[in-house]
Amino acid sequence: MNKIAILYGPTGGNTERAARMIAGAFGELSTELIPVKEAGGKDLSPYLGIIFGGPTVGSNTWADSNQRNDWDLFLTQLHKMNLHGKKCAVFGLGDHVSYSFYFVDDIGVMADRILETGGTLIGSVGPEGYTFDESKAFRDGKFAGLPLDEDNEPEKTEDRINRWVEQLKKEF
Ligand SMILES: Cc1cc2nc3c(=O)[nH]c(=O)nc-3n(C[C@H](O)[C@H](O)[C@H](O)COP(=O)(O)O)c2cc1C
Repeated sequence: MNKIAILYGPTGGNTERAARMIAGAFGELSTELIPVKEAGGKDLSPYLGIIFGGPTVGSNTWADSNQRNDWDLFLTQLHKMNLHGKKCAVFGLGDHVSYSFYFVDDIGVMADRILETGGTLIGSVGPEGYTFDESKAFRDGKFAGLPLDEDNEPEKTEDRINRWVEQLKKEF
């Protein structure tokens, strides 16, 4: 299969809007949008690659398996999946004004999960154009995925997505 799976959650907000824009930007390369709350138990092995997307929202994080959120069930199962050799990329919604010391932290959390599960991480993004103090997503001078800030700079989202997708088309 030559499709790229886009696993995103929650639905109905900034994350879903960004996921749909990313799917649109891939154009002729086909993608499949999958709400993560419907992805539990799904066999991801046939996909060419996987894009994961979600917001950083304090205690309701991708890492906190005690919280009931769209990523909970999926992440408990991700550990059992074998992503070995699978190319994976992450996008994350955040707010660089209110959460400047935790900006898109969960991109970093998700990147660690992917690497622990044997996946290969692609799609890192340089800090140019972003303002923040600290981020768990920032390592070796780059974000481990694509940060998007719909709360404060929605006008930058389309361009950020288009550039990232062009990069991913080469890296997938
Ligand atoms: C309770 C709460 C906590 C948040 N914590 C963070 C944070 O730690 N870091 C960050 O970058 N953004 C944080 N945000 C901002 C959200 O990630 C941002 O609003 C995002 O666009 C929400 O996406 P959604 O509409 O898909 O839920 C927080 C938002 C809320 C409501």
